[in-house]
Amino acid sequence: MTIIAYETSFDEAEIFDLYDSVGWNVWTRDVAKVCRGLANSHAVLTARDDGGRLIGLARTVSDDELVCYVQELLVDKEFHGQGIGRRLLERLKERYAHCRYFVLTTDHESTPEGIANHAFYRRLGLIEHHEQGLSAFALPVRNP
Ligand SMILES: CC(C)(COP(=O)(O)OP(=O)(O)OC[C@H]1O[C@@H](n2cnc3c(N)ncnc32)[C@H](O)[C@@H]1OP(=O)(O)O)[C@@H](O)C(=O)NCCC(=O)NCCS
Repeated sequence: MTIIAYETSFDEAEIFDLYDSVGWNVWTRDVAKVCRGLANSHAVLTARDDGGRLIGLARTVSDDELVCYVQELLVDKEFHGQGIGRRLLERLKERYAHCRYFVLTTDHESTPEGIANHAFYRRLGLIEHHEQGLSAFALPVRNP
């Protein structure tokens, strides 16, 4: 059984293992910073297995009125394809259904990660900005 719940405090070793399982080494380089970011987020939703092991996480940055940014969504590599990512995102879609914007940034579909992520997000009903007359702009990412 997978338990989905909101959490507010974070263990660096657990967070390291989860992010490391999907190869996010930009994040695991400074896991204390990631944990501070999680603690400062609007909401952090986790997935844990029967034994309490952290196997998935999604977090948001939001004003809880107009906009919700999903800043990270990841599932431990061992548990991919079991519907955990869907459960996390569906729960957030419900939680922020009153917001006008529900948005996220992910890899471009010209990359291997992008191909997989686009397929996942499309299955969950999300579409790209340009498909609804929008664009996203950002400063260049520091330390890519
Ligand atoms: C993207 C990610 C969160 C998906 O989580 P998951 O638990 O494996 O996905 P699910 O099993 O819930 O899949 C949900 C749906 O998306 C589809 N899907 C998931 N990954 C897919 C892929 N690589 N290609 C095609 N479809 C895919 C599934 O078929 C499923 O469809 P269905 O529910 O209609 O049958 C997970 O692969 C992951 O953690 N990746 C690494 C981190 C990452 O890149 N996160 C996203 C960027 S922020």
